[in-house]
Amino acid sequence: MGRPTSSSLPESAPQESLTIRDNRTGKTYTVPIADNAISATAFKTMTAPRKPGEREENETEKGLRVQDKGFLNTAVIRSGITYIDGDAGVLRYRGYPIEQLALKSSHLETAYLLIYGSLPTNEQFKFFESEVMRHSVMHADAEGFFRSFRYDAHPMSMLTSAFAMLGSYYSEANPSLQGQRLYTQGNAASLATMDRQIYRLIGKATTLAAMAYRVRQGRNFVTPPTGLSYTGSFLYQMDHLSEENYTPNPVLEKALDVLFLIHADHELNASCTTVLQTGSSLVDPYSAIAAGCASLYGPLHGGANEAVIRMLISIGSPQNVPAFIEAVKRREKTLSGFGHRVYKTSDPRSFIVRKTADEVFKVTGKDELLETAMALHDAAMKDEYFIKRKLAPNVDFWSGLIYRAMGFPLDFFPVLFAVPRVVGWLAHWRQMMLQEGGVKIWRPRQVYVGAGKRDYVPVEEREKVEGAKQTPSKVEHGGITKRTMLATFKGKSKL
Ligand code: ACO
Repeated sequence: MGRPTSSSLPESAPQESLTIRDNRTGKTYTVPIADNAISATAFKTMTAPRKPGEREENETEKGLRVQDKGFLNTAVIRSGITYIDGDAGVLRYRGYPIEQLALKSSHLETAYLLIYGSLPTNEQFKFFESEVMRHSVMHADAEGFFRSFRYDAHPMSMLTSAFAMLGSYYSEANPSLQGQRLYTQGNAASLATMDRQIYRLIGKATTLAAMAYRVRQGRNFVTPPTGLSYTGSFLYQMDHLSEENYTPNPVLEKALDVLFLIHADHELNASCTTVLQTGSSLVDPYSAIAAGCASLYGPLHGGANEAVIRMLISIGSPQNVPAFIEAVKRREKTLSGFGHRVYKTSDPRSFIVRKTADEVFKVTGKDELLETAMALHDAAMKDEYFIKRKLAPNVDFWSGLIYRAMGFPLDFFPVLFAVPRVVGWLAHWRQMMLQEGGVKIWRPRQVYVGAGKRDYVPVEEREKVEGAKQTPSKVEHGGITKRTMLATFKGKSKL
């Protein structure tokens, strides 16, 4: 916490601290630095009298606020899970480089690592794997839930809703019903309740995703098989019809496992932050995961792999790449799959994805969009616009091509990102529930720039405010037919 000191400090201040002089008041404050971070609440002590004519909403006398649109430099939690050095292109889960894990580990082993902090022994892994797999079966009633969607529903819409629906089956897992300390006590019973939900959510993520897939294909649902790996079971649940001894292709099963592993976590991205923000109210984990799923779906985040393919299709062929690049530079188009908030060099996952793509293409054949993708990649990497802004391919640039080669429909790509990311969301959620000092609800501040206090104006005295952004938009009414519009009925004038 900052403490005001009017002396001309720096010399006497501890070295691990920041000395701030508030030129409005002449006061000097010393703010401790711990782990190369300062507390934002220290600024609350830096008060000043309101200037004549200054808006009261500035709350100057209540202390300085720290403004950070889009969380560019605000640490909201202390975490021991994932480390990223965006300048050096480094990604480590619990200290282990992603390249080593991708080569030697599996998605479920890495899930154990991310959630519990260390690599499991054989016995520990078998226990975890069997808990996850035995929790993969869904209640038969869920079939009706999936069938209630429209024929063309986006699978992310189904998956997001399905996670929230899943929570409705487990009233014993809901802090709103069982007490708000359900997950925060850290004793054996509380940990067991938490871990049971973790097994369920990871186990059922593939089942729910496969159900979203099958409903679109007009297929009946299948019970998760026994004896297959996590990704093997997922492929089986999507693809098995009535064949005997159906076994998914091992190259595709392995490739999907590697893709799952590298998508399992990425520290505080938009969706993970959403899970923590939602979870900070101590809501049940199913609702928090549903919120994360919704956040991931956006085209700036997990929806980018879908956007990359749509972009490549729109470019059409390598010869159209230069014109596309120019359109991006004129800000008429976005180069999806390029750029990252954290990585200012290549995303290390993109190299693993490229290698995995080669393995997959050997069995599936090359994707016809690959040449356009390569031409686009090479042109962007050489172009001054992208070099200056340190824009390089992110994981989504290549992953979509693999999913396409594997025969997944475009709108299923974000699902293939969300399913493995459930692991990372849960690791962060568990860590937050057990953090020292308990859970603090996430409640950011704002800089209020709206109207000052004003009195209600009777309708006959109001001045009409006009303008597209200031008034409700006119919309077409598709649901009401022309015939109904021409009919007479009671209350029509209110429509
Ligand atoms: N194409 C063209 N220009 C870009 C791109 C891009 N893909 N990404 C960033 N830029 C430009 C911006 O216009 C900006 O230029 P300016 O300084 O001249 O205004 C500059 O590079 C910095 O970009 P910001 O938008 O400030 O970077 P930010 O960190 O806010 O955004 C983001 C990161 C959202 C990922 C952005 O790079 C983007 O939109 N990329 C395309 C979508 C995408 O691939 N998302 C997937 C992210 S990875 C993941 O979620 C797994």
